[in-house]
Amino acid sequence: MKPSKPFRVRFLAFAAAALAAFLLFRLMRAPGTLGLLNWNPGYRPIVYAILALGAVPFLLAILYEILRGIPSFRRHRAAGLASMAVSAVCGAASLAAVLFLSLAPNRVPEPLPRPGILDPSKGIPVRSAPEGEPYLRLAFSSDPHWGRAESDAEARASILRTVDAGDYDAFFLLGDISEMGFPEEGFREAATDLERLLTRVPLRPMMGNHDALVNASGRWRKYFFPADHSSDSGSPFYYRIDAGRAHVLVLNLLWGEEDFDHDQRAWLTRQLETIPREDAVVVLSHCYFYASGYDDPETGSPWYDHPGTIREVVPLLEAHGVDLAVSGHNHYQELLERNGVSYAVIGAMGGVPDPAPTYRSPASKWIRTSTFGFLEAAFFRDRIELVFRDSRGAELHRAVVSAE
Ligand SMILES: [Fe+2]
Repeated sequence: MKPSKPFRVRFLAFAAAALAAFLLFRLMRAPGTLGLLNWNPGYRPIVYAILALGAVPFLLAILYEILRGIPSFRRHRAAGLASMAVSAVCGAASLAAVLFLSLAPNRVPEPLPRPGILDPSKGIPVRSAPEGEPYLRLAFSSDPHWGRAESDAEARASILRTVDAGDYDAFFLLGDISEMGFPEEGFREAATDLERLLTRVPLRPMMGNHDALVNASGRWRKYFFPADHSSDSGSPFYYRIDAGRAHVLVLNLLWGEEDFDHDQRAWLTRQLETIPREDAVVVLSHCYFYASGYDDPETGSPWYDHPGTIREVVPLLEAHGVDLAVSGHNHYQELLERNGVSYAVIGAMGGVPDPAPTYRSPASKWIRTSTFGFLEAAFFRDRIELVFRDSRGAELHRAVVSAE
């Protein structure tokens, strides 16, 4: 028996609403989406459009029911057909968007370039250092933004060559590897250059807010977290890397605290509670905690002393005596200190430098704008010696952080 028209109207309206809800759910669950909407209100109309894809068929179906109950209204048939047509179009649009978002950003043509990537679960072997020599030497830089024409490719390559020749035990690339994870060009160019230019020093890439765009975390993983690698947390985005008496805790903070969910918080707390206090603890994240910066000229958003990460994460770092937190996100080099924790911002790997800071963080000790470079950290039993270097390795600033 053919279902009645009122049933078909209701069924199609429910289906359209359910598909729109599923699309919204998929989008909001993708790492980086919440942060994007938070920090760039200009993208919020996309959410309103998805809500309309679900709400309009629903409202039309209700209207049809009301009209059906009015005896003098004679165009039931046309109203029912209009409602069903709108539901079908909205439902098809949501379904197409779900399929596109699920498939397109995750398709990666093989073979991929294969830079020498460090497996977090294997840790970093330390040196049997004689007295006065460091047992571990790490290098950090962030925000190279491959795939954007305005990024400084020469500075980027120079940093990689300098790090490769610098006798480091690992190089951490703290995110915004690409301008956009989807489309794919940025990741491919990045992986090709990293394979070519970083031949001796193992690389540990992290995901930044630009890399996650749009629903591209799956693709990021294919490039930078190979299938045979693993991590203690089970996540490719946050994990612990041990290097003798030094412990690197990589966090997944893209735009801010939006992706710092219950699981990540519980994992971080567990690590900080179990690592011996006398060991060196370095926290790495794409988004910064304390930083100088500016008000975004387009959105008005404040790009400095991050209220969300300071509220949600910093109390844990302070309570457990974290020695150093290194981040990118702001395209400067900066050293800061607050309540016993040192903070370094090293978003200087070739991405377009940010505007001159109009806000100087009270925690700031030193800042350098418009100079590309990287940060070096040499680990001794009692201290970490930090050197900010330019793209050719010349020293810009030096500081010592206690590791006790
Ligand atoms: Fe960036």
